[in-house]
Formats: sequence, C-alpha cells, structure tokens
Amino acid sequence: MFQPSFSLRAFNSFGFDVTSKLFVEVTAVSQLSELVKDAVFQSNQRLVLSGGNNVLFCDDYFDGLVVHINNKGVSILSEDGDSCVVRAQAGEDWCDFVRLMVGKGLYGIENLAHIPGKVGAAPVQNIGAYGMEVKDALLQCTAIDAANGNQRVFKNQECGFGYRSSIFKTELKNRYIIVSVDFLLKKRAPLKLEYGNIVNYLKTKGIENPTLLQLHDAVCEIRDAKLPDVKQIGNAGSFFKNPVIEKVQFELLRTSYPDIPSYEEPNNRVKVPAGWLIEKAGWKGWRDSHVGVYEKQALVLVHYGGGTGREIVALSEKIQQSVQEKFDVTIIPEVNFIRNSR
Ligand code: EPU
Repeated sequence: MFQPSFSLRAFNSFGFDVTSKLFVEVTAVSQLSELVKDAVFQSNQRLVLSGGNNVLFCDDYFDGLVVHINNKGVSILSEDGDSCVVRAQAGEDWCDFVRLMVGKGLYGIENLAHIPGKVGAAPVQNIGAYGMEVKDALLQCTAIDAANGNQRVFKNQECGFGYRSSIFKTELKNRYIIVSVDFLLKKRAPLKLEYGNIVNYLKTKGIENPTLLQLHDAVCEIRDAKLPDVKQIGNAGSFFKNPVIEKVQFELLRTSYPDIPSYEEPNNRVKVPAGWLIEKAGWKGWRDSHVGVYEKQALVLVHYGGGTGREIVALSEKIQQSVQEKFDVTIIPEVNFIRNSR
C-alpha cells in the first residue's frame, strides 16, 4: 500500500523533482478511514495532496507520508424545479466537473471554469475567479478526521470561508481530509458578467446575451490567454494574495500612481491587485535561468525546468521585499509552502 521513495514530479504543478519518503493513493473513503488508524500514518509527518496545484515544495525531499486523494464519482443527491444538489468526490478533476455541470444546464460555478486542481482542494482555499468563489455554491463538505477516522460534515457556515481561505487552511489545518463536496446549483440564474475581462471578451466576439456554455468557454479562453499551461510551464496560479490595505494608504498611493486598480472592501479598506504592484516594481517577465515571473501575468511565478523550490522561495522573498520598499505594502503568498517539520 505504501510506496517508498516516490517521485512527486507529476504531483506538483511547479514540476519540481521532489521525492517523498512514502506515498499512498486513496481511491475510496473506507480506505481512508482505515488508513488513518495505521501506525505508519500516525507516526509520520503527513501531507494530503490532491492535484498539487497550489503547493510549493521548499526542499527536494519530503520526509513523510504523502496521501494522494483520488476517489471519483459525481451524483445528484436531490433536485426540484429550481435547483439541484450535486455531490462530487474529492478526487474528481475540477475543470471536468465544472464542464459537466454546465453541460447539464446547472448554474453556480461557471466562472470557476478552467481552474486546475481537484474538487477536494477547492474549498480548502475557497478558489475564486471572475467575481465568483466556490463558497457561493457550496452546500457542505464531508471530511475524515485524521486523528481517528471519524466522518464529519461541515455545513457552508462551518467552513470559515474567507478570501482564498477556510477553516481547513487555518484552525483545522492537517486535521480533516475532505472526501466529497456537495454543491447547490441552480437551474436558472443570472450570469455574472460584470468582471471587466468577460465584458470585453464578449464584446470582441460580438456576443450580446451569452448562454451558460458561452460564458464557460469565455472564461476558459481568457484564462488560457493570461495564465501559463502547467503542462508546458510549471506554476501554481496566483502566487500571492491580493493585499487589502487601509483606504487612507490607498489614497496616498493613488496620488503617486493615479492608474492603480482597486476593489472596495468593507471597513474602509481597499483590495489592490498584487500583479499590478509586482509589475510596477519591475518584475514582470523577469527570468533567472530556471525560474521567473510570467510575462503575461506578474502574479504568477514560473518554473521553466531544472530548478528547485528553493529558487522560487528566494525569488518570492525578493519580490515581497521590493513591493514592500516601493509601496509599503505587504504581499503574502497564497500558495502553500511545504517544509519538513523536523
Ligand atoms: N495586473 C497588472 N499586471 C499584471 C497582472 C495584473 O497590472 O501583471 C492588473 C490587471 O490589469 C487588473 C488587475 O491587476 O487591473 C487584476 O488582474 P487580474 O484580473 O488578472 O486578476 P488578479 O487579481 O491578478 C485574481 C485571482 C485569480 C483569478 C483572477 C480572475 C487572486 C490572488 N487571484 O487575479 O486567481 O483567476 O483574479 O478573477 O485573487 C489563483 O488564485 O490562482 C488565480 C489565478
């Protein structure tokens, strides 16, 4: 069951050549409940990995057990005239799932099309794009307690969702392993088109009243045009979160940089795109042999091959420092840094 000295190259979207001491693939919930009671599971440092699209291995060796969640299945739990509750197992591919729901005419996750990863990882960092977040359509998720194998259902309100965050990333980090997610999807709903890129894209295509499928396809094309394909260039999507700053500080910044983009937040705060800050600090398209900053979107750090996680860590620290010095704004990684605990 446990595979020793396992290469994680295909299990981290940065494509780093990392080896784990032990690896196990889980394809059924019952298997996971048994696994957590195993002495090998309990005595090792553990890393739960689904698609590996939001992780950065800081070392070449992970001194522990990697648990790859790969259970499959999509089923309709209930349905009425307006909506449908759909359960997806954690190991389902996120993009395939979104496409499947769009194909069935179900609304609620279409703007989250083409985000690489698996269903089980989506709630952990509350994935979001084009004015939508997974929390908006999530009814509940089912998880296994890593301490004893017990199953627990987390209702939406219990997940502690925030911007690219949830209880599974904070208070309960490493405690619960998500095995399935239930979505409440609508049979009719207004499309969310207000996000700038979508409007522009549809205008250039001459589409006035897009269908659900046309919106889905638009999001896919917009993402393709701006974000590197992980199959060609290693990356983990947005590397940093967009910082939220005080309005007073924002107004001060705007006097020096009148074109600074922003989004209003509650409590007199303003969200500023980290990609803009990084570009203005001169990093866009920067490259140092193995690693760099993507030329079309400065928020994405890339691995061209032959590099190590340490090089990305070093680059990210330099970027943080230069944004801090230039704008007095702290940017924090969105990507999970994986380090050996001992
Ligand atoms: N911008 C620049 N230079 C850049 C990149 C961006 O000036 O190099 C400016 C853009 O012109 C725009 C603003 O920054 O005015 C925002 O850029 P964009 O629309 O590309 O979105 P983002 O804030 O960089 C966020 C999410 C993405 C998501 C997009 C679309 C975060 C950390 N990232 O990026 O999510 O796809 O919005 O909704 O919130 C991810 O989390 O991995 C991810 C890709």
